[in-house]
Amino acid sequence: MPAITFTARNIQDITKGSSQCAILPMYQQKKLSDEAQLLDDAAGGTIKAAMALGDFSGKAGESCFLPGAGGAKRLLLVGCGVRSAFDRGAAREFVRTLAKALNATQAKDAVLHAQKFEVKDASQGWLFNTIAREITRASYRYTETVSKPKQAMKLARLVVNTGDNAKAKAGQQALDSGAAMGRGINEARRLADLPGNICTPTYLAQQARKLAREHAKVSTTVLEEKKMKELGMGSLLSVTAGTDQPAKLIVMNYKGGKTGDKPYVLVGKGITFDSGGISLKPGAKMDEMKYDMGGAASVFGTLNAVVEMGLPINVVGIVAAAENMPSGGATKPGDVVTSMSGKTIEVLNTDAEGRLVLCDALTFAARFKPKVVIDIATLTGACVVALGSHATGLYANQDKLARQLLDAGDESHDRAWRMPLWDDYQKQLDTNFADVANIGGPGGGSVTAACFLARFTEDYHWAHLDIAGSAWDSAPKGATGRPVGLLTQYLMERAH
Ligand code: BES
Ligand code: MN
Ligand code: ZN
Repeated sequence: MPAITFTARNIQDITKGSSQCAILPMYQQKKLSDEAQLLDDAAGGTIKAAMALGDFSGKAGESCFLPGAGGAKRLLLVGCGVRSAFDRGAAREFVRTLAKALNATQAKDAVLHAQKFEVKDASQGWLFNTIAREITRASYRYTETVSKPKQAMKLARLVVNTGDNAKAKAGQQALDSGAAMGRGINEARRLADLPGNICTPTYLAQQARKLAREHAKVSTTVLEEKKMKELGMGSLLSVTAGTDQPAKLIVMNYKGGKTGDKPYVLVGKGITFDSGGISLKPGAKMDEMKYDMGGAASVFGTLNAVVEMGLPINVVGIVAAAENMPSGGATKPGDVVTSMSGKTIEVLNTDAEGRLVLCDALTFAARFKPKVVIDIATLTGACVVALGSHATGLYANQDKLARQLLDAGDESHDRAWRMPLWDDYQKQLDTNFADVANIGGPGGGSVTAACFLARFTEDYHWAHLDIAGSAWDSAPKGATGRPVGLLTQYLMERAH
């Protein structure tokens, strides 16, 4: 996917200068905006004619291509709805409609006239970030294993006309960050959409090494199983016991901040396929368990975005990559394993493997003397039952961190909802045969999974994002790239 370039500019005479498409945001109102009037005059009245014919009225969700005017080969009218109601939600719908039209047109470049384009409850920065992010996101195509991939978006360059020099300067930064976020989101989608036979732990390790090769500020270390054994990661290793694919503990270290700055540590669940192991999953939709590395994909996507933006902070990305398969050597229900922390774990269900790889990765994370640790995992079906697909489940052992993540999710429209980590749930994990069991009772499955992790994260500020419902869509099937938006927004806000 060639990246789309976004440029903020101050174009005073909008009827001059050539482009393949002039885009006009149009409110639902009788009188044309000054910009629309100018282009309508230049086009000999086609905008008014289209409106008189009833083909376009400026309603939200409407779009309409017309022959060109001024220097533009074509006009694209995009409905914004009622002007006084143009808030964040309406602006998002505008961008969705625009992206859909851009996916349909042959135009390779376009100018969006955004001179007096204001959102009731948001800044120009939010709007421009959203535009660049969402249009980039809309350009995503899965290509890797199909002979005839869907037609790519033709658009290569979008100019956003601010009609003002100062606004163009500030706008450029917002476009750049939005585009970087969008590309990070798309990279997470690409990795997650790849099938389990291509996207193995080894493949993920190669991707991490590639990131380090391409960026001077990133270094990558991959811990092999031998090293994990030396470190005492008996819990992580118990998950990989049934597969022929070697597990990898991948560490990507981005040094954008000062040497002494404590890093933000992201830990991703990277189960490249989750069959359930001996506690085998039912067959229906089992293919979707290739997405069980969605947390890992979001770590890659977020690092990509952070690196591209060159944020002045230190970030460590840790990916616990393994495949969960049944075999003669696989871990069995009732087996007891010893984690790196020294805590023993009774594996009552081999399908609760995410927490088993994460607990060792989280113990390992303490070595980086983190400012905060955030793990991201497609951890529980119970989270899908609780929250569906709109909200990611958020757990945190510090209120400030929880608040910051919730806010970042709202700002980037990649939302999370806080869930309880109360001690009351902990006793569901008690067992006679180890320090902790890897499953609780039938109720509150997402909470007990988080409570399990909480036992390994007492030494630092920690949040856990259960993305089981938000990481991919089932119909049509495809990765969403969440929560790269939330995480990137959170890190951007920590960077100044
Ligand atoms: N990867 C799954 C969670 C999952 C299931 C995510 C369905 C999205 C859709 C996880 O490893 C798992 O299997 N969890 C079990 C835990 C249970 C055995 C306590 C689950 O949710 O059923
Ligand atoms: Mn599982
Ligand atoms: Zn899993």
